[in-house]
Amino acid sequence: MVVSQTGGSEIRHERTGLVFRPGLEGVPATQSSICDIDGLQGRLSYRGYSLDDLAVHSSFLETTYLLIWGELPTPQQFRDFEHEVQMHRRVSFRVRDMMKCFPANGHPMDALQSSAASLGLFYSRRAIDDPQYIYDAVVRLIAKIPTMVAAFQLIRKGQDPIQPRDDLAYSANFLYMLTEQEPDPLASRIFDRCLILHAEHSLNASTFSARVTASTLTDPYAVVASAVGTLAGPLHGGANQAVLEMLEAIKADGGDTKKYMAKAKDKSDAFRLMGFGHRVYKNFDPRAKIIKIAADEVLKDLGVEDPILDIAKALEKEALTDSYFVDRKLYPNVDFYSGIIYRAMGIPVEMFTVMFALGRLPGWIGQWKEMRFRNEPIGRPRQIYTGSTQRSFKSVSK
Ligand code: SDX
Repeated sequence: MVVSQTGGSEIRHERTGLVFRPGLEGVPATQSSICDIDGLQGRLSYRGYSLDDLAVHSSFLETTYLLIWGELPTPQQFRDFEHEVQMHRRVSFRVRDMMKCFPANGHPMDALQSSAASLGLFYSRRAIDDPQYIYDAVVRLIAKIPTMVAAFQLIRKGQDPIQPRDDLAYSANFLYMLTEQEPDPLASRIFDRCLILHAEHSLNASTFSARVTASTLTDPYAVVASAVGTLAGPLHGGANQAVLEMLEAIKADGGDTKKYMAKAKDKSDAFRLMGFGHRVYKNFDPRAKIIKIAADEVLKDLGVEDPILDIAKALEKEALTDSYFVDRKLYPNVDFYSGIIYRAMGIPVEMFTVMFALGRLPGWIGQWKEMRFRNEPIGRPRQIYTGSTQRSFKSVSK
């Protein structure tokens, strides 16, 4: 294995002379004008607007419009879009009945993947070059996914899901449908901010999956279902659930953060410090900085004392001065603090990755739409064959 000039690892295949990069690290696989990441400076922008500005001054629905259509909406465009989304929040009773057949202990990410794909059954016209079909698909996905997520949570508790409320804004309505309570205004605002922070992140694994799926001209519901399945893994979106489970384990172990730092550095131990490190950011993940401040705000507003926030801050402080982490440029990423906010809002830990998916939805949809209008060819890279050479077949009976 050789290390390429860009620092990623390359493997040169002696027989063919071909070179490949595991995980396609650093390999450009498409062009996009949606999101720009400066991994060295730790900067992130959507359509040229800095995330720091959008997270504080925009709303998730306005940022969704920006990501998908490329420009911030005019007041009229925003009112129209928001109205359309409100009118499409309800889902067919067939979807709810389908969810009642899901096992109550099934993972919410699997329920989301199944229900997202099921939308394709109801809106199967695959006229994906028809602008009206594309607009309708965007509205349906943005409007119905939160309703389906909240519905499964109530159904798995043996309750009937509740209908969306048209008088509530996007994030407040989701929290209402999930908790059956009038959402706290600050909690709604912070949750909306978390969705903005998760909304898009260039060619991460789940977006790459979405683009390859979209390149076969399948419908947008299948594209989202494919992306959800990819996001579920613990090295990607599943990390926010894994972070909470790790912090809980450290708390149960007497809060011995040094022991877990040592485990993370021990190559014979598969343990990794979840929520640390990033393929692109070799500096602080800008989203982690914003989410850390939001976690403090929410805990103070809700009057919640959460000892695992102190454990998280202790781990971060130790890692910032530990040569193993400093040399490998391993800083907290977006998943390190988000779970603390969701837990303070009463969201069950097994739903944390679903919250990530709710945020990433406009990113996936925006990239699907960008591909459609660019007529990108089907995604079909090549492999280097390292298997057996030609062998003559002898039936087992002989
Ligand atoms: C997300 O791509 C995106 O944009 C993703 C995302 C998005 O918005 O879509 O930002 C969201 O997925 C954030 C990442 C969430 N995952 C985690 O927090 C899981 C823990 N982190 C890692 O497993 C890891 O850092 C990755 C997967 C995030 C990145 O892996 P890379 O870039 O392939 O790095 P690597 O695995 O090659 O590690 C490089 C070195 C290795 O050590 P050496 O072989 O050089 O001795 O760093 C070590 C690794 O062992 N390392 C860690 C570590 N992460 C990397 N050691 C301990 N703890 C960690 N968390």
